Amino acid sequence: MDKIIIHGGKQLKGSIRVSGAKNAALPLICAALLAPGPHRFSNVPSLRDIDTIEKLLASLGAKTHRRDDLFEIDTTTVDQFEAPYDMVRTMRASVLVLGPLLARFGRARVSLPGGCAIGARPINLHIKGLEAMGAEIELDHGYLNARAKKLKGARIHLDVPTVGGTENLMMAAALAEGKTVLENAACEPEIVDLARALKSMGAHIEGEGTDTIAIDGVPSLGTLDYQVMPDRIEAGTLMVAATMNQGDVRIAGMISADLDALIAKLRQAGAEITMEEGAVRVRGPRRIEAVNIITRPHPGFPTDMQAQFMALMTLAKGASVITENVFENRFMHVCEMQRLGADITIDGNTAIVKGVRKLLGAPVMATDLRASASLVLCGLAAENTTEVKRIYHLDRGYERLEEKLRHLGADILRIPE
Ligand code: UD1
Repeated sequence: MDKIIIHGGKQLKGSIRVSGAKNAALPLICAALLAPGPHRFSNVPSLRDIDTIEKLLASLGAKTHRRDDLFEIDTTTVDQFEAPYDMVRTMRASVLVLGPLLARFGRARVSLPGGCAIGARPINLHIKGLEAMGAEIELDHGYLNARAKKLKGARIHLDVPTVGGTENLMMAAALAEGKTVLENAACEPEIVDLARALKSMGAHIEGEGTDTIAIDGVPSLGTLDYQVMPDRIEAGTLMVAATMNQGDVRIAGMISADLDALIAKLRQAGAEITMEEGAVRVRGPRRIEAVNIITRPHPGFPTDMQAQFMALMTLAKGASVITENVFENRFMHVCEMQRLGADITIDGNTAIVKGVRKLLGAPVMATDLRASASLVLCGLAAENTTEVKRIYHLDRGYERLEEKLRHLGADILRIPE
């Protein structure tokens, strides 16, 4: 197992390009199950979660091939329909095969994910939606056994705008008979990317990016040749890194409109953010201002940036209030930040962060994907040496983060533990 060693206090400067979005690539690769034939994706990041989805689809009978950022998959030979516990346990997004398998083959067997580090994360809304479309789903030894002769379009109201649920139902509805309307649907940019890809396969979809998505099912779909959108969370993480370290960093390839909520908060914190041709330039302030945030579904402040923003606030002038509204247990990074000298108090889903003048390097442990990024950010700004252990979490969702930061001038190394 590798660990990351950071000697903090270096100013970040230069230009860096963001990778393709993990959270867009995962559903897109699952969408390849909807149509037999060779599909091709570019701008696919090299990450552990992508390895996991590749393994899962290969276990279903698909043939895969990867080279650099290209991901090719032929789903003609798919003849298995099970997402086993071991895979769903390591990556919850594995449940995204449920909708496509059910829509194309009329059957799927998918392990229930169980809890995870950031909360309960049920998939009841995925199930309820598919049942409304006529699927019969029963629980059998921890697995969902789903069957449907032919899915039928339905009007489905989601109690919460679940990202994965919206994606699963949108994919299922693309091949269903008749019209499906998803109300209170998630509006995340990754949903828009998936809808765009499904349309390129021949699906009829309207309203993606709003809370009401209408899908007119078609009898069959064509194959995909698709470029994955840039990773807004990686871009956001790099923006915070620049803000925290009096940096001057150009982040190329990112879509700034996808990060409006974060950009507004970074500006309030004192960052100077300017839009340039094909890039966003972030200049960090001498002194960071305290800013409050509340995480919400898109276009609100993304929960996937909460830990990183908290890292920034540990060094702000004054106190900030950070409220986590999307997941119930997403403050696991707080205890580790306290080890670096951060002054944070938790009360329910709210954290009060009193800025300190400096953080002091220490060994810390990553607990989940975004938490590990937040600890790297703290380490970059801390005095002396910070060691971040258990970085397999980081490798699930950040492509070569330490290399990118080193390129910007950080003193950061990955070494085998
Ligand atoms: C996706 C992202 C994850 C991000 C999250 C919220 C991927 C692969 N992952 O996760 O990085 O943090 O969106 O932006 O894209 N819920 C239910 N019932 C359900 C489904 C969800 O109650 O059936 C609840 C969850 O417990 C959570 C909230 O809805 O409180 C949001 O979860 P959801 O949007 O589904 O997150 P994911 O799709 O798992």
